[in-house]
Amino acid sequence: EYKNPIGVNIDLETGVIPGAKKLVRRLSSLKGYFLDEEAYNELLKDDPVVYEVYAVEQDEKDGDLNFATTVLYPGKVGKEFFFTKGHFHSKADRAEIYYGIKGKGGMLLQTPEGKAEWIPMGPGTVVYVPPYWAHRTVNTGDEPFIFLAVYPADAGHDYGSIAEKGFSKIVIEENGEVKVVDNPRWRE
Ligand code: 6PG
Ligand code: NI
Repeated sequence: EYKNPIGVNIDLETGVIPGAKKLVRRLSSLKGYFLDEEAYNELLKDDPVVYEVYAVEQDEKDGDLNFATTVLYPGKVGKEFFFTKGHFHSKADRAEIYYGIKGKGGMLLQTPEGKAEWIPMGPGTVVYVPPYWAHRTVNTGDEPFIFLAVYPADAGHDYGSIAEKGFSKIVIEENGEVKVVDNPRWRE
């Protein structure tokens, strides 16, 4: 029995995929993720939406593919730009492709040993996330940063170690500039 092919148009202005499952992540779901706790608690009074995901997912079978757009809103907690939680894949060797649609940002990637890389992203940027690398996107602009991700259906999400330790680098605004600097709270 064959599955049916799917063709959908992503709304390139809003990132919405018609018929997709929508997930909303508010600031309250990112407790402990940002460095400046005072700024976090202040902003929590409004509990803004930090990002939304529109996902078209299949059963977790080897060989199949999922795809999802993410709409990551502009904002900062203290100096730190809004970001996605970030994760390893549960099946850690599963790779992923991202494609920038709108806005400005980038991806932090990190090996299990804590070696981090920063890849700037804009409309048209393709990022290859190799097997074993954790990944987090960051909005460094002042409009929503929208991108598409394509990933194996059996990849899964492992949030644990990033939720606990974060990335070894953080992305901040300093003197009006975007800077990728060492995370002062990082420990191996
Ligand atoms: C995935 C993708 C991507 C990601 C979202 C939200 O594996 O599904 O990397 O769709 O999940 O951008 O980011 P978090 O899953 O880290 O919250
Ligand atoms: Ni992923």
